Amino acid sequence: MPIVSATEMINKAHEGHYAIPAFNTNNLEWTKCILQAVQETQTPVMIQTSEGAAKYMGGYKMVVDMVNDLIDSMGITVPVALHLDHGTYEGAKKCIEVGYSSVMFDGSHFSIEENIEKSKEIIALAHAKGVSVECEVGGIGGTEDGVTSNGELADPAECKAIADLGVDFLAAGIGNIHGKYPADWKGLNFERLAEIKEAINNKPMVLHGGSGIPFEQTKKAVELGVSKININTELQLVFADATRKYIEAGKDLEGKGYDPRKLLKPGADAIIAKAKELCEGFGAAGKA
Ligand code: 13P
Repeated sequence: MPIVSATEMINKAHEGHYAIPAFNTNNLEWTKCILQAVQETQTPVMIQTSEGAAKYMGGYKMVVDMVNDLIDSMGITVPVALHLDHGTYEGAKKCIEVGYSSVMFDGSHFSIEENIEKSKEIIALAHAKGVSVECEVGGIGGTEDGVTSNGELADPAECKAIADLGVDFLAAGIGNIHGKYPADWKGLNFERLAEIKEAINNKPMVLHGGSGIPFEQTKKAVELGVSKININTELQLVFADATRKYIEAGKDLEGKGYDPRKLLKPGADAIIAKAKELCEGFGAAGKA
């Protein structure tokens, strides 16, 4: 099955009280590992790229072809959506054109009026092609692709204004941040999440910065309407850790240990194991 829009899988997750894992990919190995993990756990998945990661891999079209080709050659049968993460207005338009099945337009750094105008346009363009859309209200803290946004709690009235445009799922700041959580992190703000849920009439929500949030908190967030959880840093950390151990143990110097297929294997295995753990933890395993 080629890539599908995320609308149906997200709506099913919303009704069934679990969250679709949305894993950021960085290259071929990452994509293969994510697909292997979700196939083995029978998990519906969103594979997403930032604009920077897509550029690194050669461009949006390459990513569309790579994901579709891997689904085919690996015999993947679980539903897979290919999503643009934190898209600009231009990036979202381009991805809709070249075959992403889902896009995020992140207008959170614009005034709410401009965010509404641009979100409306992207939603119309995407829906005309059967592509699902995520929009964002209130910045997510931390740094991603060199763009730093201050963490904030999204304003429920602003969330309603964007949700009412017909967006398929909404990202809203609730104390979450991208990257590693600092030791003194206060945790997710469930009060604000509940207020937003009410204001947007229980539309599915997206939790960014999913790496390192304890499962008790992600479970509570799911009960309050979160249906997609974004994961990037956590897979990067386990990959780097396993690769460092391989090199520090001098394994690349033994025999043909320098062969990339050997050198990258411990990191790849670590990605698969972590992705499976997250599919289970978000309640999405077995839901394909
Ligand atoms: P982490 O890197 O913190 O997992 O966040 C990923 C994310 O939210 C992508 O938009």
